[in-house]
Amino acid sequence: MKQPLRFVVMGDLHYVQEQSHQQALNGKPKGVTEVADITRNLWMTRHVTPRIIEEIALFKPDFVIQTGDIIQGHCDDEASGLREMSEAMELLERLNSPVFFALGTHDGVVGRREEEQVLQYVYPAIAKALGTDSVTRGYYTFEKANSLFIVLDYTTFIQGDLQEQFIREAFAESKKYEHVFLFSHPPLICVGRPFFTHYDFAQTVLRELAEHPIDAYFCGHTHNQISALHRVGEYWLPQLKSSVLGYPDRPPVCLSDVRPLLPEPEAFEMGWGYLEDSAPGWWSITVDGETVQADWHVLGHGVVGQLTWRGRGEKALFSQKPEYGNSSGLPLPKLGDIQSVRLRAAGSNCRTPGAHRVSLNGEEIGAFQQLEYFDSRQYMRIEAKYWHFLGVHNRIEITTGDEPICIGGFVLEIETDDGWIRSTVSGYYANTDRWDRWGNAPLIKIAPHQTVITELIFGS
Ligand SMILES: [Fe+2]
Repeated sequence: MKQPLRFVVMGDLHYVQEQSHQQALNGKPKGVTEVADITRNLWMTRHVTPRIIEEIALFKPDFVIQTGDIIQGHCDDEASGLREMSEAMELLERLNSPVFFALGTHDGVVGRREEEQVLQYVYPAIAKALGTDSVTRGYYTFEKANSLFIVLDYTTFIQGDLQEQFIREAFAESKKYEHVFLFSHPPLICVGRPFFTHYDFAQTVLRELAEHPIDAYFCGHTHNQISALHRVGEYWLPQLKSSVLGYPDRPPVCLSDVRPLLPEPEAFEMGWGYLEDSAPGWWSITVDGETVQADWHVLGHGVVGQLTWRGRGEKALFSQKPEYGNSSGLPLPKLGDIQSVRLRAAGSNCRTPGAHRVSLNGEEIGAFQQLEYFDSRQYMRIEAKYWHFLGVHNRIEITTGDEPICIGGFVLEIETDDGWIRSTVSGYYANTDRWDRWGNAPLIKIAPHQTVITELIFGS
């Protein structure tokens, strides 16, 4: 009997070589989140990534596909970037499997910046996995057991260029195969982190997918752990995200507890979704004749989620869902049980100090620091002297200025001895047309200097 095909997908790794980031670690970071990112990812490099690699090696897959951001990148200079990539590749040797790569922005971008990391290490690694002498681009196809694997490079994608032609040709070929799997770094459909993809790339690929159904799309980029089904044309598409980055002991935070979910509800079914920084995991896919099974493994916990399907384009079935608790819909705790309170938010281009002042039920309680990149880890602490203003229903007002911004995803978070309790989550507000082409669904339009007013509610 024919053995089933078993392959593994690993998401963002962000391998950190400490000596390669001395500028940022010694007071000269290039961005507002850089020091925190390097510090966190150095910890993951030491304590999480080697353990995940060990688990995957024990699983003995036929091959592994890593969906980009192999390294943290943006290193001190070219030599330090090359050293970081070289060490990461050495670590991945421990998988004892052929490893394919879909490039992420942190890996370097051929033709633009830090391309030597890709030219000297990633392209040769892809060539080795493909069994060819060399490759000269980050997009390619290969086939195994009557399945087609399409790997795309969004870092170099430009509308109308050779990769767009390659995409059209690859999908035209896809009819000949029993199964088709697609891989790239960014999501095609944003679920929790708004606008955090490459618009032209995503639209180009989605146009093809409306004509040519595939089995599943694997990506990373946001570092969230998400398994969701999306309607694309007449077909259903599983978009399966994962990341190796996550604190193994931190309880996973249900994405819908802290973010408004962005897809239209009728075109979307969520299997599960967890905010970045928890549940470090990986996917294994088993292809057995017409049946496909996708298992989400979490470090140290085995398979915690599973979906299965037959025939591409059909709606997959969630045969196992993770049993992590959620933190919203719970009653407001008593004042004496509260340990800390914060207002979480996300935003982009919110840079003016003091521009975003916050009132809670009529009392001014502080102002947000800079909000950038729709980063999911940003919040404002609320001092104990204001906690008695909290109620089941909370009117939140946030002032805005005239810089073009998007701000939202407001959620009150209360820490108690038993963990976090969260209010409902607000939508996103924008005072610019910058994101209009994405459609109106995720955005509420405001005028410059308009005060955002929203109500955040606890369970009762
Ligand atoms: Fe990443």
